[in-house]
Amino acid sequence: MRILGIETSCDETAAAVVENGRKVICEAVYSQIPDHACYGGVVPEIASRSHAEKLPVIVPQVLREAMSEVDAVAVTYGPGLVGALVTGIAFAKGLAYALQRPLIGVDHIAGHIASLYLTHKDLKPPFVCLIASGGHTEIVYVAAYDTMYILGSTRDDACGEAIDKVARRLGLPYPGGPHLEKLALEGDPHAYDFPVSFRGQDHLDFSFSGPKTAVVNLLGRLDNPDQEGADIAASFLRTVTAVLTENTAKACERVGVKNVCLAGGVSANRQLRRAMQQMADAHGLHLYLPDLRYCGDNGAMIASAAYYTPSGPTGLPLFLNANPGADLDEYRPQ
Ligand code: KG4
Ligand code: ZN
Repeated sequence: MRILGIETSCDETAAAVVENGRKVICEAVYSQIPDHACYGGVVPEIASRSHAEKLPVIVPQVLREAMSEVDAVAVTYGPGLVGALVTGIAFAKGLAYALQRPLIGVDHIAGHIASLYLTHKDLKPPFVCLIASGGHTEIVYVAAYDTMYILGSTRDDACGEAIDKVARRLGLPYPGGPHLEKLALEGDPHAYDFPVSFRGQDHLDFSFSGPKTAVVNLLGRLDNPDQEGADIAASFLRTVTAVLTENTAKACERVGVKNVCLAGGVSANRQLRRAMQQMADAHGLHLYLPDLRYCGDNGAMIASAAYYTPSGPTGLPLFLNANPGADLDEYRPQ
């Protein structure tokens, strides 16, 4: 079965055709970073307009490259920016109707999880997946392809959001994650200790606004903040990766699985990938990391997740709606 996946939940306009959830036939991603860079962050209105411009370019391109018909059209319905989601859904509805193909609505987080299926053809549930991105930080227990439970999530900033804000305060360009990673390589990760909430508590939730605010306060106190940038970046990343890996290890122990995965934009970070490997080795777990090209938002992960989605085709494409606050609810058994 070949599915066309369309992703427009934030600042990437992406499309791909994937066969049976695992094999990428062709793909295209247009990154809107140049459109938002001068504002220092994503401007929702610009994101929606840019998706509307780029979808009619990249979707026909991908369909041409696929060189065969698709069996269904899939699109992200949430979570994400509502205007950006609506743009993708309206386009997908029109296309599904014109092609007379079923439309499949996909949860963006399930998409990030499916990026592992594209990278590791042998990976099957059950496993625990840490999703670390600009908009989300969640530990998900993937009990089966159609059954998932959120074991822990952030109570304030997503880790990518906190990373981007710290990077911005250090004068780095948007999006800050990759720049902070580079700067941190030159610094001492033990130069500073930033406070972390919830350590030692029973739940698996996160809070990243505390360490972020601690960095901002520290920068305000320093005489020459520029000289300390690398040490601050390295120490902040150490703090964030430590709490992410600790909670993921606890989650694996709780549900008793031996397979652990990492996904989402921040999974491109080498420090986090290394820390996850160390954690997995220390706990006797097998770690699955996504290919770098599938860490950020892309259409292939949406097409893959659509293949495994529990709700299946909506049948009547006109009924699908955006849900900016979607939280894998369709994956919980009723
Ligand atoms: O998954 P994604 O593309 O979009 C959302 O669903 O949010 O994640 C984007 C986030 C941004 O915060 C970006 O700075 C971060 O991923 N990111 C990184 C790296 N590459 C991207 N953070 C740290 N290190 C990186 N190398
Ligand atoms: Zn994402």
